[in-house]
Amino acid sequence: MPSQRTSTFTESVIREMTRVAHQHGAINLAQGFPDFPMPGPMKDAAAAAIHGDVNQYAITWGAPSLRLAIAEKYRRWYDFPVDTETEITVTCGATEAMAAVFLALVDPGDEVIVFEPFYENYGPDAILAGARPVFVPLEPPDWHFDRDRLAAAFTSRTKAIIVNTPHNPTGRVFSREELGFIAELCVANDVWAFTDEIYEHIRYAGNHHLLAGFEGMRDLTVTISGLSKTFSCTGWRLGHVIAPPEETVAIRKVHDFLTVGAPAPLQEAGAVGLAFGPDYYNQMALDYRGRRELLCSALRDAGFRFSVPEGAYYVLADFSALSQEDDRSFALWLAKEAGIATVPGSSFHATPGLGGHYVRFAFCKKTETLERAAERIREIATR
Ligand SMILES: Cc1ncc(COP(=O)(O)O)c(C=O)c1O
Repeated sequence: MPSQRTSTFTESVIREMTRVAHQHGAINLAQGFPDFPMPGPMKDAAAAAIHGDVNQYAITWGAPSLRLAIAEKYRRWYDFPVDTETEITVTCGATEAMAAVFLALVDPGDEVIVFEPFYENYGPDAILAGARPVFVPLEPPDWHFDRDRLAAAFTSRTKAIIVNTPHNPTGRVFSREELGFIAELCVANDVWAFTDEIYEHIRYAGNHHLLAGFEGMRDLTVTISGLSKTFSCTGWRLGHVIAPPEETVAIRKVHDFLTVGAPAPLQEAGAVGLAFGPDYYNQMALDYRGRRELLCSALRDAGFRFSVPEGAYYVLADFSALSQEDDRSFALWLAKEAGIATVPGSSFHATPGLGGHYVRFAFCKKTETLERAAERIREIATR
């Protein structure tokens, strides 16, 4: 018999929709992975590392070259000093990072605040740690939170708040003022912020601010990010955690027991990517802006309602002007009849009834993939 702990886990709806896409020959705009190549110099560096016999365990908390590149990244982008020896843990993706942070810092019975809709891993992370997620809505149509509601969610049992910006699935980029408000609540209540900044370099409006950089937050923030999205290498499984030294000791222990370490040769190649100059990031932003326009204009023409994403590469679109079906039936219809796989909105919610007239489209795809998808989406309006 499987453990009780896993009894509430459901199969990832995103993977299920990918299967449906295969079955019906649909274009897969469900899963958030690019269908275009990652940067050549990183592939060359990985091959060179493998041929150079970097094939054994790296130091469990990360190869020195990668930790150095990560520290340099935080200095260069955010003027935020990080100690490579005591504050960085390299993990198998941001996914393992968040799970390790929960297991290292959260006790059974603790409450963890999560904005809803949310990236679907945070719920299971909380369950694995025995914590209770407390949901605070990001409210449509523009996905802002109500400050009073957020303040009221902080109780004496609150251990942490998860802050994911740029945000999956809404595309929100939290403003300096919003982050400042969250920081004030964390400081006033002595509550941790666990951030998920995996989309930090994919933005169309607004700056990315490190929550750890706000007054009083350096010792209350665990910063999580990784290389999956910035370098289009979701299969490489490279993430990292920045945390104060005492917490880093605990996070490293959990990480060691879970995975020992991230792939050694790929860590060497990750360091090469992190050293890319501004041209790489400017081109990436330009390319994503083009992809966003392609998808958004087709969705608009077809009658979907949505707020244009400020960051990340998703559109959470309201289909109620097109259909009165629920999100799951509509997503299945879209895959079978229109040839477009999406993710039903309810899978980003825990509160029953929420997200029921939304589907999420991912646009981290080649221009030709998106052009074909745009044609199919425009045809929906004629059905
Ligand atoms: C918000 C968010 N965090 C984390 C991840 C996964 O990151 P990684 O590949 O580094 O595990 C995703 C992937 O879709 C995501 O959307």
